[in-house]
Amino acid sequence: MPNIQVHDKLFEPYLSAGEIIEKVSTIASRLNTDYKGKRPLFIAILNGAFMFASDLFKQVTVDAEICFIKLASYKGTKSSGQVITAIGLDMDLYNRHIIIIEDIVDTGKTLNVFLPQLKNQQPASLKIAALLHKPESSIYPLDIEYLGFTIPNKFVVGYGLDYDGLGRNIAEIYKLVD
Ligand code: IMP
Ligand code: MG
Repeated sequence: MPNIQVHDKLFEPYLSAGEIIEKVSTIASRLNTDYKGKRPLFIAILNGAFMFASDLFKQVTVDAEICFIKLASYKGTKSSGQVITAIGLDMDLYNRHIIIIEDIVDTGKTLNVFLPQLKNQQPASLKIAALLHKPESSIYPLDIEYLGFTIPNKFVVGYGLDYDGLGRNIAEIYKLVD
């Protein structure tokens, strides 16, 4: 596959659509085993996680609910360090089994701000499913129970992930050419 341009930057192919879907299936199988009979509630974090959430949820075969919240911390290709809640949570989490669906965990800031808000509501359990993790840029350590890929500290686009609004509609994941 050729390189692509998004805004002013060049990106090279990194993870193919096939590799991604295979990984999503693996995560879904684990969830189907772990949450049998528990009627989990998935909370997907918009915008980036919408594609991962959709593909994953289609492969969840146990009774399950899903809802969405919108958090944002990124400006361009850098984390702003500030997490803004643009659309809040409208579900009661008390005694529920919760699975957060994130596209990517970078510094860990977004989830570190958000998780205590969820824990306040005393869910029965709280786990994270993330498609991508950049451990090299981790500042706030997180336990990611269901992880797709560990990737180097490079900016990526595609499969829901954007660079300044563009690139979300690509079925593969591309990484920035240095
Ligand atoms: P964190 O709060 O630093 O962990 O950043 C998490 C959020 O930043 C993710 O949910 C993404 O929306 C965004 N993000 C982090 N790294 C990238 C990237 O390489 N490409 C696109 N968005 C990213
Ligand atoms: Mg995100």
